[in-house]
Amino acid sequence: MKKTSILFGAAIMSLLMSCAPAENKENMTPQEEKNQVVETIMSRRSIRKYKDEIVPREVMTQILDCGINAPNGQNKQSWEIRVVDNPALMNEIKAAMAKGHPQMDSAMVAGCFRGAPVMTFIARDKSYDFSAYDCGLLAENMVLSAWSMGVGSICLGSPVRFLTDNEECRPVLEKLGFSEGYELCLCVGFGYPDETPDAKPRDKQKYRFVD
Ligand SMILES: Cc1cc2nc3c(=O)[nH]c(=O)nc-3n(C[C@H](O)[C@H](O)[C@H](O)COP(=O)(O)O)c2cc1C
Repeated sequence: MKKTSILFGAAIMSLLMSCAPAENKENMTPQEEKNQVVETIMSRRSIRKYKDEIVPREVMTQILDCGINAPNGQNKQSWEIRVVDNPALMNEIKAAMAKGHPQMDSAMVAGCFRGAPVMTFIARDKSYDFSAYDCGLLAENMVLSAWSMGVGSICLGSPVRFLTDNEECRPVLEKLGFSEGYELCLCVGFGYPDETPDAKPRDKQKYRFVD
C-alpha cells in the first residue's frame, strides 16, 4: 500500500514536470521552443485568474526547494518564506488589511491577492544590503519552476505596501512568524491558471552590446 502510493506520487510528479505550459508560444523562435528552460521563461505569464484548486503541498515543496536554490549573496540565504494555503488564515490577513485601510472595500482588498489559492510571503534580512535581490531571485526561481510544472503565479507588491504601512496589520504579520530583523518584501501567489494571457511587449532597446 505504502509502496503503491509512493509510486503513484512519483508518477504524478513526473507527469507534472513534463507538462510545461503549451500556451504563449507564438512569440518564440523554433530554437527557443527546443530548450525547456528558455521555453519556460518565454512562455511564463503573470496569472490573475485561478481555478478553485489548491496546489498540493508536495508540489509547493518542490517549488520552494527551487526557490532556495537561487543564487544569493555570499550564500547568506537572506530570505524567509511563509506559505499560506489555508483560506481561513488568508481571510484573517485580508480582514486585517481592510481594517488598516478603511478606504478599501473587501473586493479591493481581495483583488490585491489576485485570487491565487496559495500565497507565499517573502521577507528579507534587513541587515544585508543585497537581500532584496536575493528575494527577487528566489521568487523568480519559484515562479519559473512552478510554470514548468503547470502552476501559474503572480508576483505581488501591493499586499506588501498595504500590510506594512499601518499598525492594524502587525498582529497578522506576527502570525506569519518571520525572524527578528526580517521584513516582508514580496508576495507571490500560486495556483492552477484559469486564463492564458498574452505576452506583454518588451522593449529590446533596454539592452545593447557595448564595444
Ligand atoms: C516586484 C513586482 C511587483 C508586482 N506587483 C504586482 C501587483 O501588485 N499586482 C499585480 O497584479 N501584478 C504585479 N506584478 C506583476 C507585473 O505586473 C507583471 O510581471 C508585468 O506586468 C509583466 O507581465 P508578465 O509577468 O505577464 O510578463 C508585480 C511584479 C513584480 C516583479
